[in-house]
Amino acid sequence: MEKLVIEGGIPLHGEVRISGAKNAALPLMAATLLTPGRHILRNVPDLRDTRTFIRLMENLGVKSERKDDVLILDSTHLVHAEAPYDLVKTMRASVLVLGPLLARLGKAKVSLPGGCAIGARPINFHIMGLERLGVTCKLEGGYVDAHIDAPMQGNVIYFDVPSVTGTENLLMAAVLAEGTTVFKNAAREPEVGNLIDMLNKMGARIEGRDTDRLTVHGVKELFPADCTIIPDRIETGTYLIAIAATGGSGTVTGCNPAHLPSLLEKLRSAGLSIGETENSISISWPSRLQALPALGSVDIKTMPYPGYPTDLQAQYMALMTLGSDICVITETIFENRFMHVAELQRMGAKIRVDGHSAVVSGRGMNGLSGAPVMATDLRASSSLVIAGLAASGRTDISRIYHLERGYENLVEKLTGLGARVWKEQE
Ligand code: EPU
Repeated sequence: MEKLVIEGGIPLHGEVRISGAKNAALPLMAATLLTPGRHILRNVPDLRDTRTFIRLMENLGVKSERKDDVLILDSTHLVHAEAPYDLVKTMRASVLVLGPLLARLGKAKVSLPGGCAIGARPINFHIMGLERLGVTCKLEGGYVDAHIDAPMQGNVIYFDVPSVTGTENLLMAAVLAEGTTVFKNAAREPEVGNLIDMLNKMGARIEGRDTDRLTVHGVKELFPADCTIIPDRIETGTYLIAIAATGGSGTVTGCNPAHLPSLLEKLRSAGLSIGETENSISISWPSRLQALPALGSVDIKTMPYPGYPTDLQAQYMALMTLGSDICVITETIFENRFMHVAELQRMGAKIRVDGHSAVVSGRGMNGLSGAPVMATDLRASSSLVIAGLAASGRTDISRIYHLERGYENLVEKLTGLGARVWKEQE
């Protein structure tokens, strides 16, 4: 197994280009199952998760061809309607094939993902929504076995809590249903918007993009599409925070600042200068490097979009360990998303967890020192990378396969910003 080694304490400077969004690429790939033909997806990141999803698609009979960041998926001949446990257990997002397979083939069998490191993560909203459309779902042998006896019928689908993949899965099921489906309290994440754009390009009729009320007018037929994946807002935020934490300055390019309203606001409150263009964000300290202030305005509470993203909570916590006061971080989306705390503590961070909140006592910009730490999930791992970059001395991060799930060319991109970072065999 490989580990990541960082020699910290070097301010990052320069430019880094953002890849396509993992969490948009996966549902857009799933959408190609809806109708036969050659679909073209652009700006597809080459990640462990996108590769796993391609394997899942190939297992269903889809042919794939990749050239640089362009992925061609030919879904003309589907041979299976099953997502097996082996693939689903390594990537929960595999559940996204359920909706489109049902819409195209009238049946699908998908392994239940089970819990994961950050929480229980049930899929009851997905199943409830499918049942509202007339699908029969049986839970058997660890699988959801779903089929329809008659065409799916539009209905009202209400989410108790906005669910990103729940909204995406059910949109893909509803586009070919008869009649109209109305989603209430749907997720508004930009990745959902990217999927709606692709589905509409394919001939679907979905109204209400970027709102929590979506109306889907069922259509009889869809066509292959040529679509571009939006930039990864979580990767964007991770690099901005990394630059800030090392006291550096730089520009993140190929991104969409409009997708990070809450993070940019918080970084400004923390005293950083942020400049935005349509597709880049620059970040720097206004004067000399200073300890981050913490006056309550830097507290965060994770929320569905456009609130502060849970996927940037751990990285932000690493930054706040370098502040000059107290910062309260409250996690409301997942019940077990503070696993980075114990690892950050090993690097000298002062953090107390009380239920869903973590109280971070900033120790100033030189407050962390390098240590051997362990990656536990994708975003927790990136917070350790940020801490390692800011810390004095050497940090060894083991189990970096988590990072490879979601950060394309991490070592190359960080090296391009001046970091001293490399991979080693454990
Ligand atoms: N929930 C239910 N029942 C469901 C579905 C969700 O109770 O059937 C709950 C969840 O337990 C959670 C809340 O609803 O408390 C929201 O979860 P959501 O369904 O939105 O999460 P997800 O769709 O499984 C996606 C991202 C995650 C990201 C979350 C929240 C993808 C592939 N994954 O997961 O990304 O954290 O939305 O924004 O889009 C990551 O990239 O590291 C990652 C974990």
